[in-house]
Amino acid sequence: MNPLRHVAIIMDGNGRWGLKHKKSRNAGHRAGLNTVEKIIKESIRLKIKYLTLYAFSTENWKRPKKEINFLFNLLESFLVDKIEVLHKQNIKLKIIGYKKFSKKLNKILNLSEKKTSKNKTLQINLALNYGSKSELINAFKSVQKNKIGINEKNLGKYLLTKNIPDPDLLIRTGNTKRLSNFLLWQIAYSEIFFEKKLWPEFNQKDYNRIIKKFKNIKRNFGKI
Ligand code: IPE
Ligand code: IPE
Ligand code: MG
Repeated sequence: MNPLRHVAIIMDGNGRWGLKHKKSRNAGHRAGLNTVEKIIKESIRLKIKYLTLYAFSTENWKRPKKEINFLFNLLESFLVDKIEVLHKQNIKLKIIGYKKFSKKLNKILNLSEKKTSKNKTLQINLALNYGSKSELINAFKSVQKNKIGINEKNLGKYLLTKNIPDPDLLIRTGNTKRLSNFLLWQIAYSEIFFEKKLWPEFNQKDYNRIIKKFKNIKRNFGKI
């Protein structure tokens, strides 16, 4: 049985769910937050150590301003409401992505990271304004600037996922088979599951079904 330390999730399908059930994409984003809470809870129960959630890509800035504002307001009020609860659950929150948001949100994100920085049960990496290509370009630039050798170890020091082991398992909900600029370097050997359900429909049972399959895969890493 494969050990499972790190799960990464592309939480896709909120907009379609919202349009189908509530006639608004934003209602889907709100519903998606319930799934986030369920999956956090289940990850703790399963003793998973790292959960990386793709919440906003560098490409998502191309969306209508109204939707972008809704998403960041939702995140802001979620953190204000729940950071204490997350902290009590011994969860460490880390933002992966460049913090170029409103002054208020930047401050809330920094405070949330600081408050939970010593927690040990589960590390949640929230990918916000994250894009794998710019992450890699910046990492290569830093390696060059510091005049150190270009190798995996040195590159890893400048990735946003520094000190985080690579994901064992990547799940994308929403019935789309693509990576959308997510962790391209880090998922070199991850097991990938594309899930038909939209993110707000995804639940603990679906999560466990995928994990069960993951546990039984023969992971070769190039060996036989
Ligand atoms: C994913 O859901 C969440 C974010 C990108 C913030 P989408 O909003 O992409 O939902 P669909 O894919 O349009 O249904
Ligand atoms: C990927 O979903 C980004 C997040 C889930 C945050 P998108 O819905 O933005 O991906 P594309 O644009 O369909 O590839
Ligand atoms: Mg989408």
